[in-house]
Amino acid sequence: MIKLSKRLTTVASFVLKEEKVTLIDVGCDHALLDIYLLQNNDKLKIVASDNKEAPLENAKKNIIKYSFLNKIEICLKDGIKNIDENIDTVVIAGMGAETIISILEEGHNELKNIKRLIISSNNKYGLIRKEINKMGYAINDEKIVYEDNKFYVVMEFVKKRQKYSKKELYFGPILLKNKDDDFYRYYHFIKSELEEVLNKLPENHLKRNKIVKELELLNEEC
Ligand SMILES: C[S@@+](CC[C@H](N)C(=O)[O-])C[C@H]1O[C@@H](n2cnc3c(N)ncnc32)[C@H](O)[C@@H]1O
Repeated sequence: MIKLSKRLTTVASFVLKEEKVTLIDVGCDHALLDIYLLQNNDKLKIVASDNKEAPLENAKKNIIKYSFLNKIEICLKDGIKNIDENIDTVVIAGMGAETIISILEEGHNELKNIKRLIISSNNKYGLIRKEINKMGYAINDEKIVYEDNKFYVVMEFVKKRQKYSKKELYFGPILLKNKDDDFYRYYHFIKSELEEVLNKLPENHLKRNKIVKELELLNEEC
């Protein structure tokens, strides 16, 4: 069995919750996630896509190495534009929040067939929740992952209209409800980072107010 990073193993665990899935892995790069998914469920239908030739070459080499060339469709593509209408799940992992949001916004026509989105952004988790919720998706699962001295929040969205409070969008509705050890570890880390920034800012700096408000929110919950 191929060995994935902790973050991608979490992404895979979200995909594997459902048995019959037709998915596109946008920005597949090495396609290790897709190989791991098929090793765990050979009934999955997978399109491994990237918008650059070099990562796709890398993906193809790995896919051949693990003998999945007849199982994974490799595709040069920008985002989710003109994807096959049978695709019901989109995975986007390892990109910044703004890139992920613009991929989904530019592909809004394609989203009508998409039941699940599995997202592993590198940053701005509140923004990801807010913008994807606006697109008609609710947060079904989320997990904090700590790897290589960095925290990640991996999220699963399902098509469903649901309203969230400002606090739920900031902390994550499921993370906030469960409040496990990872929750405290992650948000204490955010708090100490913000306190450090605040201490270095001059008294009249414009950013102070925003940081103070964010710290107040954090202090209410952890
Ligand atoms: C850092 S890699 C992430 C690889 C893997 N998904 C992971 O999480 O480890 C980001 C990949 O996304 C690809 N990418 C960036 N923008 C894209 C877009 N608009 N459409 C498709 N692929 C894109 C890049 O070429 C790169 O291979």
